[in-house]
Amino acid sequence: MKNIVILISGSGSNMAAIAKAAEKEAWQAKWGLRVAAVISNQTQAKGLALAKSLGIATETLSHRSFDSREAFDTALMVRIDQYAPALVVLAGFMRILTPGFVAHYAGRLINIHPSLLPAFTGLHTHQRAIDAGCQVAGTTVHQVTAELDHGEILAQAVVPVLPGDSADTLAARVLTQEHLIFPQAVRSFFERGG
Ligand code: GAR
Repeated sequence: MKNIVILISGSGSNMAAIAKAAEKEAWQAKWGLRVAAVISNQTQAKGLALAKSLGIATETLSHRSFDSREAFDTALMVRIDQYAPALVVLAGFMRILTPGFVAHYAGRLINIHPSLLPAFTGLHTHQRAIDAGCQVAGTTVHQVTAELDHGEILAQAVVPVLPGDSADTLAARVLTQEHLIFPQAVRSFFERGG
């Protein structure tokens, strides 16, 4: 069995897209893949209830209980490693990770970022794309490296920026594409040898 652990901070719609694809496409029967757990650093994250409703084990670990980024990441690693994951998926996990965390999961840690990387790393990607006059925007699934929002690009999707778009309308358009490419990218990760 190859375990996938998904880290979230918010609504968890990408997490659910991956879990639903795994179910629909019988990843477990075909490839021995399962979403073993969803872990949130936000105790109130809506995605926790969603994960439970999908029958997935959930855990919370609040970063607020720790004095340093290193201490939180070390505790988080212990939680994650209970599941001996073949892949750790950052699905709206809004934390900057320490180099030690990234090194620990090197080659088995992927993220989705709501821009066409390498453009617009960091926060407020949709508003920044609108402000820059971009005609297209999108999303990127990438391997995680020590440098924020860098690392090998695994998948991208492009959407138009439409006249009158707000950050919210653009984000919603991008999100629908994320729900398509993220499960595909996870599947491809394992098809390429995991
Ligand atoms: C997604 O749009 C994802 O790309 C973004 O947060 C959203 C999470 O939505 N991630 C980041 O901004 C990472 N820096 P979700 O909780 O519904 O999946």
